[in-house]
Amino acid sequence: MNSGPKSRALFNRAAKVMPRGVTSNFRYWGDDATLVVKKGEGAYLYDQDDNRFIDYRLGFGPVVLGHARKEITERVSQALSMGNTFAMTNEYEISVAEKICKLTGIDMVRFANSGTESTMGAIRVARAYTGREKILKFEGAYHGFHDYTLWNCYPPIPGAGYRRNPILIPQGSGIPRCLGDLVISIPFNDVEILERKVKENWQDLAAIIVEPLLGNQASIMPLPGFLDHIRKLCDEYGIVFIIDEVKTGFRIAKGGAQEYFKVKADLACYAKCLGNGFPVAAFGGTKKIMDEIGPLKIAHGGTYTGNVVAMAAADAALDLIAAGELDKVDAHGKLLMAGWKQVLDKTGVPYVIQGPAAMPGIVFTNEKVCTEYRHWAAGDHDTYENIIEALFRRGVMPDKDSREPWFISSAHTDKDADFALTAFEEAVKEVIG
Ligand SMILES: Cc1ncc(COP(=O)(O)O)c(C=O)c1O
Repeated sequence: MNSGPKSRALFNRAAKVMPRGVTSNFRYWGDDATLVVKKGEGAYLYDQDDNRFIDYRLGFGPVVLGHARKEITERVSQALSMGNTFAMTNEYEISVAEKICKLTGIDMVRFANSGTESTMGAIRVARAYTGREKILKFEGAYHGFHDYTLWNCYPPIPGAGYRRNPILIPQGSGIPRCLGDLVISIPFNDVEILERKVKENWQDLAAIIVEPLLGNQASIMPLPGFLDHIRKLCDEYGIVFIIDEVKTGFRIAKGGAQEYFKVKADLACYAKCLGNGFPVAAFGGTKKIMDEIGPLKIAHGGTYTGNVVAMAAADAALDLIAAGELDKVDAHGKLLMAGWKQVLDKTGVPYVIQGPAAMPGIVFTNEKVCTEYRHWAAGDHDTYENIIEALFRRGVMPDKDSREPWFISSAHTDKDADFALTAFEEAVKEVIG
């Protein structure tokens, strides 16, 4: 969908002072198509030309309680009068830490400002705690924009080599080659390869970091027992198990993936839904490991960590989540998934619908179940992206990138689901026939 005149004029202004007119590469959709937002309201997003979209991107996931949620803006407004940054602990911060621990079952937490910072923090703690330096990550998993994990996030296939021994590929230029020496990357959901790599490398392995479901690959789910197997190997070989809950946390269950999949991390990373879109993140875990953070031991800090605005937003968001708001998210997602199935079954085109209802994904593929990145990579992404384009024109906005699942908020209504499914049926007819 081409942008309207107001979006286009603002985009042209932006492109003069910001590369590609955006502040994140993922937001650039082409010179003629990059929209500029006017506002968000509940489940809706309005662009500068007053086109309304049912928003299933939700800013790449965080806005699980809907845009401009009253209870959150009110608590933030109240907090604003006390000032924001003090480089001192504030009461909101303590309250949020208590709520995170209660909801997720972790013992202690430290705050950060983004998911990227939270995974960086967890990795540093794991390295310090174990005295080892390597990390094992899975192909297709994304853990933020730092150089430590920007390897094999979505490598070209073919190009990334044999799946039993993938070639490490950095995500673009500027990432020091030497950091690749500290990364082992293997396919998700393959117990045999996992065991082999752990047995070969455990003396150097500080952490296994996992997206508990591949939320950056259309929500590929872990096979039953896979996360338990990682837990077992980590216990056996003294490796820190880091669960990156940046997408799943406070979305797929109150206690995130740890609750949903009944698995316990040593360290878990949170961001996105924690602040319903306000910039706040955290990492935390067992007291035994987290209590090692401190002066002359393990470094952690940041001028803005625990700032009042972010903490007030998280405080209000966690109250709403604790009160059961995610039930609505789940119910809406289930409606969409059932509706997609009805529409797609009529086409005869092979597809998979996967993921939890709070962040479901669709892949056009011959696989019966996608279990790893390479399954997603072999899918038909053009068809998916053309359907999304057709949805945009009908006022429904999931992300165009076929790696992104649809993100649901508690502000999405049954009426929105009807609208979105009618649009989906029309879009599928237009693209597939
Ligand atoms: C699983 C996961 N981890 C980490 C990050 C990085 O978070 P942020 O963009 O807040 O730095 C993301 C972002 O999408 C993510 O999906």
